[in-house]
Amino acid sequence: MEFFLDTANLNDIRTANEWGVLDGVTTNPTLVSRENMTFLDTVKEICDMMGDRPVSAEVVATEKRGILNEARKLVKVADNVVVKVPCIQEGIKAIAVLSKEGVRVNCTLNFSAVQALMAAKVGATYISPFVGRLDAIGHEGLHLVREIREVYDNYDFDTKIILSSARHPQHVLEGALAGADVCTMPFGIMEMLFKHPLTDAGLKRFLDDWNKIPEELRKF
Ligand code: E4P
Repeated sequence: MEFFLDTANLNDIRTANEWGVLDGVTTNPTLVSRENMTFLDTVKEICDMMGDRPVSAEVVATEKRGILNEARKLVKVADNVVVKVPCIQEGIKAIAVLSKEGVRVNCTLNFSAVQALMAAKVGATYISPFVGRLDAIGHEGLHLVREIREVYDNYDFDTKIILSSARHPQHVLEGALAGADVCTMPFGIMEMLFKHPLTDAGLKRFLDDWNKIPEELRKF
């Protein structure tokens, strides 16, 4: 499973980059609104930090022509830009054009498997089912990921499933078990993936015992 960071914060990306597990970044207008930089500069900075790894940047137009205009500007920012387009009728129309032009698209705000089927039919590179937001209205978000996996496998679509709107490490695990290709998550969740209280307790005990060995016997 690939790990993407769901953020527009450069410090988060810099830190996670050092962990060696970061495969890409996803942003959205809400995340960008939290940073005090112009949108295209933010995208450029993130793309530079990520090298050739994918960075999703979202359009804000809601009709085909506007989406295409914004998408064409975004892809000029860097080679690793993936254009994020909402899962609406105009969005699907735009994705059909963009994928023919070779533009990689992440179809976002996905809440049903039939939406995901349409995104795959028009050649989206990624589909982003929003698991946490479905859980929040009393649905089982992971069920959507399982349905999309089954539909894509039935027809050999190579559109990658990005488990999105992750709320806790269990979403990451359940997504991996359900066959999501990618999980995008906030910095805090990626940080939590390292942690287990038994690891900390076990390490403390090993080090305490190590320090009981006379100093001359514990040289490396
Ligand atoms: C995905 O690409 C989105 O940015 C995302 O995961 C949004 O999730 P949220 O529900 O935390 O806003």
